[in-house]
Amino acid sequence: MTGEGSIPLLTPYQMGKFKLSHRIVLAPLTRVRSYGNVPQPHAILYYSQRTTKGGLLIAEATGVSETAQGYPHTPGIWTKEQVEAWKPIVDAVHAKGGIFFCQIWHVGRVSNSGFQPNEQAPISSTDKALTPQNYPTQFTPPRRLRTEEIPQIVNDFKVAARNAIEAGFDGVEIHGAHGYLIDQFMKDQVNDRTDQYGGSLENRCRFALEIVEAVVNEIGADRVGIRLSPFADYMESGDSNPEALGLYMVESLNKYNIVYCHMVEPRMKTLEGKTECSQSLVPMRKAFKGTFISAGGYDREDGIKAVAENRTDLVCYGRLFLANPDLPRRFELNKPLNKYIRETFYLPDPVVGYTDYPFLEEEEDDK
Ligand SMILES: Cc1cc2nc3c(=O)[nH]c(=O)nc-3n(C[C@H](O)[C@H](O)[C@H](O)COP(=O)(O)O)c2cc1C
Repeated sequence: MTGEGSIPLLTPYQMGKFKLSHRIVLAPLTRVRSYGNVPQPHAILYYSQRTTKGGLLIAEATGVSETAQGYPHTPGIWTKEQVEAWKPIVDAVHAKGGIFFCQIWHVGRVSNSGFQPNEQAPISSTDKALTPQNYPTQFTPPRRLRTEEIPQIVNDFKVAARNAIEAGFDGVEIHGAHGYLIDQFMKDQVNDRTDQYGGSLENRCRFALEIVEAVVNEIGADRVGIRLSPFADYMESGDSNPEALGLYMVESLNKYNIVYCHMVEPRMKTLEGKTECSQSLVPMRKAFKGTFISAGGYDREDGIKAVAENRTDLVCYGRLFLANPDLPRRFELNKPLNKYIRETFYLPDPVVGYTDYPFLEEEEDDK
């Protein structure tokens, strides 16, 4: 796939100890097809369809504990059954030469008591409720974690990381983005604590960094990445100074030598809402010593440009990869793309909108 005349997105890259053959990364994508929070056999086909030899894939957000869930049918990695269920999926990706990281996740207050053990309130940095959203389930006002409870949550991330390695994953991506629990600690619009986890930037980032440290100590820095979205305000989790937050985080992350930092572009205020904006990830990219991954609203040309201008090392594709299982090949040949169908993103069907997007060859055979 690489060689003379390759586009920059298709050039090889050494990410820590991982030899990547190109720069196109599968974004973490929640697909709500893991019934009972257990990954299902249909995910074997889904992920292997999107695997290339030497390509990096990031698995969908995966719960670290029984309090981590906020959506139906999202996978977990805290029980033996879940770990066993991930194994054949990871094996299938490895059989095709892919590198597979598991995104470990806690939703915090983006939940409903129906998803919680004993129908308790979801936990968060705060007890401020989310305002009702245009979403089928409503959010239950959260319970603010007591200071002395926080080490247990840090430990849940550590155990989840250990489980991910046991399942065969090459590493984990700590989900510190999009208004979920870690972001609820980092952002000053949400965090109203008065203990050592609230107030100053240093205090608000303490929870995230304690998780990074625990996970690094458990599985090794060369297997740890993190996703951050300092500029986003999804789930009412915005910050008054996102650039300072992003810079403080990358500078702190440098001390742990983690393999990558994955950041969502400032133009993505929400998961899918691309807007014009003058802010940029370049200061964070420059300050971070490891591999930098950029995500959000990229197409082929934009990705080529970002790599060519050294604004990032790797480019993550979400919706385009979801709809084009052979995205790297289509980019290589500069072929047209399948259009994604939003209505089936979160349809809990094992095939429709999941593994039935056509490959280039199938389309050309149909002509
Ligand atoms: C269906 C869907 C599910 C998503 N699930 C996750 C997720 O589990 N974890 C995460 O960090 N981001 C998630 N995102 C955000 C994507 O990873 C990505 O950042 C976003 O789609 C913007 O990139 P794109 O323009 O390439 O699609 C999701 C987005 C979509 C559309």
